[in-house]
Amino acid sequence: MSEPLATSPLTFSFLTLFPELLAPFAAEAIVGKAQARGLVQVQLVNLRDFAANKHLKVDDTPYGGGAGMVIRADVAGRALESLPPADEVILFSPAGQRFTQAVAEELAQKTHLVFLCGRYEGFDARVETLVTRELSIGDFVMMGGEAAAACVLEAVARLRPGVLGDPESHQMDSFSSGLLDYPEYTRPPEWRGQPVPEVLRGGHHAAVAAWRREQALTRTLARRPDLLTAAPLTPQDSAVLLGLGVTPEQLTAWGAPPPPVPKRQRRPKRPVQPD
Ligand SMILES: C[S@@+](CC[C@H](N)C(=O)[O-])C[C@H]1O[C@@H](n2cnc3c(N)ncnc32)[C@H](O)[C@@H]1O
Repeated sequence: MSEPLATSPLTFSFLTLFPELLAPFAAEAIVGKAQARGLVQVQLVNLRDFAANKHLKVDDTPYGGGAGMVIRADVAGRALESLPPADEVILFSPAGQRFTQAVAEELAQKTHLVFLCGRYEGFDARVETLVTRELSIGDFVMMGGEAAAACVLEAVARLRPGVLGDPESHQMDSFSSGLLDYPEYTRPPEWRGQPVPEVLRGGHHAAVAAWRREQALTRTLARRPDLLTAAPLTPQDSAVLLGLGVTPEQLTAWGAPPPPVPKRQRRPKRPVQPD
């Protein structure tokens, strides 16, 4: 069944000193196509257009001294006030809330998102009074917020109805299902001595689904066991996890249901005694 198309597009407005860095993300690939189809809109706003001096200066030295420059609050304020009302004004900062799939899903419900991309030492702290949240894309420091904003655009736009060809394709992605995704394969059937797992070539849909679920559990346990505490697990998943060496105590700590009770083995029929 296809998802209903959204009635209004989601508009992303980027406030940046380098709109040309973001232009390809807006124009190319799936976001470009989604824009052409009216599913999303991307607006690039140059902060420099809101400088109020003849040198178009948007930054200044920090009060109290120290290295680097700070983007002026009045410039950001004027740029924000030039835009139509937004559901969220998001400031990108290493000090922000960690961006996750859950945040992407929340933002995908909105109709207008404004992204404030910092540069230099970031914005004057008083800009924080104008934003609804601060987002970080990880514990590292980049030179600007444009790459962070592009990450959020990519993650949010693909969740909008109609943007992906197959509406179900994001539901099994890593994190959306609560687990990491299972491994995928395509042609050739053997490459450098590595064959595609036989089960994927057998055409048995239930066996493929069971194998993929087992692989997703195996990967998640090996790489991101922290996800298992919040993942919706079935009794069958619990059986798989026990088989992978997880203890019953761990399963209980993760809130996993008990594994299915194995069906009692039928006793072999007694041979009929001849009269
Ligand atoms: C050089 S950074 C400023 C770093 C700041 N002095 C600090 O240590 O938190 C310039 C801009 O890049 C962006 N930025 C850098 N790293 C980021 C991250 N991990 N997540 C989101 N934005 C980031 C922010 O917009 C930031 O204002």
